[in-house]
Amino acid sequence: MRVRGMALQLTIIGLLVAAATAAPEFPIGKPGCRDRCGNVSIPYPFGTKPGCYYDAEFLITCNDSFNPPKAFLTASAINVTEITLQGKLHVEKYIAKECYNASGRTGRFNPKFTLAKFIISDSDNIFVSIGCDTVASLSGNLKEAGSAGNEYEVGCTSFCNSFKYVPNDTCSGIGCCRTSLAKGVNRFALSVASQTNHSAILDFSPCSYAFIIEEKKFNFF
Ligand SMILES: *[C@@H]1O[C@H](CO)[C@@H](O)[C@H](O)[C@H]1NC(C)=O
Ligand SMILES: *[C@@H]1O[C@H](CO)[C@@H](O)[C@H](O)[C@H]1NC(C)=O
Ligand SMILES: *[C@@H]1O[C@H](CO)[C@@H](O)[C@H](O)[C@H]1NC(C)=O
Ligand SMILES: *[C@@H]1O[C@H](CO)[C@@H](O)[C@H](O)[C@H]1NC(C)=O
Ligand SMILES: *[C@@H]1O[C@H](CO)[C@@H](O)[C@H](O)[C@H]1NC(C)=O
Ligand SMILES: *[C@@H]1O[C@H](CO)[C@@H](O)[C@H](O)[C@H]1NC(C)=O
Repeated sequence: MRVRGMALQLTIIGLLVAAATAAPEFPIGKPGCRDRCGNVSIPYPFGTKPGCYYDAEFLITCNDSFNPPKAFLTASAINVTEITLQGKLHVEKYIAKECYNASGRTGRFNPKFTLAKFIISDSDNIFVSIGCDTVASLSGNLKEAGSAGNEYEVGCTSFCNSFKYVPNDTCSGIGCCRTSLAKGVNRFALSVASQTNHSAILDFSPCSYAFIIEEKKFNFF
């Protein structure tokens, strides 16, 4: 049980990636522009300086003090791990997390992000929660719907009272929940909450997690 519990956490943190899409006009960087940052290639409309990118939303900040150098979207802390020629941007994202011990809640992190010119790809990504006393939600905006009446909410709930009942190959509500995203989400906030403070399950499931991940990178085991 403990080994499986630890494996769940490593799977999340090690593979956490979300994809955002943009329309490329050139297959590679413009002439005279840097087209790599460490392991990440930088095709137009992305670029590392004015004249190289389409507009400032497509700025890739390359930090050479890392080895290999690390790429960030604009000047943010959003780590870019891959930019494909189809204009998909793969980024590392934060995990919503909430943990308890016998005294009560010990930690909570509910991240938010806005992708002004990008949307989360509904065909590449899923919303996942992991935990045994876990009510997770994603609230945000649908970029295409205009400014009013475009709020978006999706939820995932997972419970269990023993790891014994958590299946290895499905993520359907027992210790794990997955659901699809709507088209066109560009601003969103993730949150996790609990119903009973994990009180009966603290020994094997003290924490809940929620995140967006590429479906093909997600393995629940
Ligand atoms: C970068 O590429 C090298 C060689 O292909 C690989 O060993 C390394 O793990 C990669 N690093 C990252 C951060 O992806
Ligand atoms: C690069 O990363 C280092 C270490 O995190 C940081 O101190 C530095 O300010 C960064 N440089 C730029 C240009 O962002
Ligand atoms: C992005 O990279 C920085 C520098 O390596 C790291 O401190 C930070 O945790 C990374 N962010 C995410 C969301 O993984
Ligand atoms: C719970 O964690 C808090 C700090 O995060 C600590 O002060 C407290 O002693 C812990 N309670 C138990 C029962 O371990
Ligand atoms: C899940 O896999 C582990 C090891 O691969 C195995 O020990 C366990 O019995 C499996 N659990 C279920 C519910 O199939
Ligand atoms: C959960 O903990 C809070 C304080 O941290 C407490 O007020 C509440 O009654 C607890 N709920 C349950 C169901 O144990």
